[in-house]
This record gives sequence, C-alpha cells and structure tokens, in this order.
Amino acid sequence: MITVISGTNRRNSETERIAGYIVERLRNRFEVEAKLLTLTDLPADILHDDMYSKDGQSDELGNLQDAEMVPADKFWFVFPEYNGSFPGVLKLFLDALSVRRYKETFAKKKAALTGVSSGRAGNLRGMEQLTGILNHLQVVVLPNKLPISAVEELLNGNGTLSDQNTVEVLDKQMAEFLAF
Ligand SMILES: Cc1cc2nc3c(=O)[nH]c(=O)nc-3n(C[C@H](O)[C@H](O)[C@H](O)COP(=O)(O)O)c2cc1C
Repeated sequence: MITVISGTNRRNSETERIAGYIVERLRNRFEVEAKLLTLTDLPADILHDDMYSKDGQSDELGNLQDAEMVPADKFWFVFPEYNGSFPGVLKLFLDALSVRRYKETFAKKKAALTGVSSGRAGNLRGMEQLTGILNHLQVVVLPNKLPISAVEELLNGNGTLSDQNTVEVLDKQMAEFLAF
C-alpha cells in the first residue's frame, strides 16, 4: 500500500491537487492501492511541549499514524516549496511520528518525492533536504525526484492536471517507483 502525503496544511493548496491526482492515477492506471494523507488533517494540538513523549501525544495523531503510516510499504511525499525548502509542518509531522512506533513507521520503507512550486525551482533544494532526513529515518528514496515548477500553469480551472508533459513525467516516476 502506498500512502501519498500532501506535505502542507495550507487549505486549498496546489500540492493537495497534485497529490490527489497521483492517488487517482496510481489507482486507475497502475491499479495499486493508494491512499491520500493530507497534513490539513493533522490534529491542531500536534505542536506542544509534551509532543516528544509517547503519552503526551494525542490519540488522534496516534490513530492517524496507525491507520495511514504504519501499514504503508511505500510513501509518496508531494510537498510545496516554502522559503526555499519544504514546509515546517512536514518536519514537525516526521518528528512527532518518530517518537512513537519509529521502526514500524519508517524502517526499510521506500519513498518517492515530488516537489511543487509556483517559482522555477520545483523545490529541488527541499527535495534534497528531505532526502537526507528520510535516509536518517531509514527510508530509501527513489533517485528520480520530480520538480514541478510554475504549478498554477499546469492545472486547469477546476484544479485538474492539464499539462501533458507533466502527466508523462509523473507516469514515468510512478512506473519507476512501483518497480523500486
Ligand atoms: C509560506 C510560503 C512560502 C513560499 N515560498 C516559496 C518559495 O520559496 N519559492 C516558490 O517558488 N514558491 C514559494 N511559495 C509559493 C508556493 O510555491 C505556491 O503557493 C505553490 O502553489 C505551492 O504551494 P501550495 O501547495 O501551498 O499551493 C510560498 C508559499 C508560501 C505559503
């Protein structure tokens, strides 16, 4: 099972649109089980000074970890570029999960990374930085990391992916990730 993580808690983000597209495409074209986890669903009380003890974390966060992260064999991180890197809420999420069921959540799993930006970089720097963090968590990262730049120009009015080149490079990344 692949859990596709939309790595921002910004409402109506372009990242969530791309992540939703990836989930649908994995299911419908590649016929694999895929689920969307968006960081807009994180409990509001994730950030507090007791978050670094298992008992200090909310049941809601534990339930989300048990249902969406522990059973996944692979993760697909789709995340925007905020100030030249990935959003802080994504690191907060990974730090919080690492406190509880660390190995069952991360060890020996695989990840694909897709960066999203309105600018030209497609979050290349953020993808490199997240790779180092995931490797630290014992997650192996697919070498083909895909930068999606100028994202607003690639989506049509109702927010679906309309750019044929992006459809093709995402299909290639999906095929490589399934064989990885
Ligand atoms: C706090 C913040 C910082 C941002 N910094 C950058 C940036 O450094 N480079 C860039 O290309 N876009 C930047 N953006 C714009 C995002 O790339 C843009 O909103 C894009 O749609 C992806 O983010 P989204 O998934 O939140 O929509 C920033 C947006 C926010 C909210």
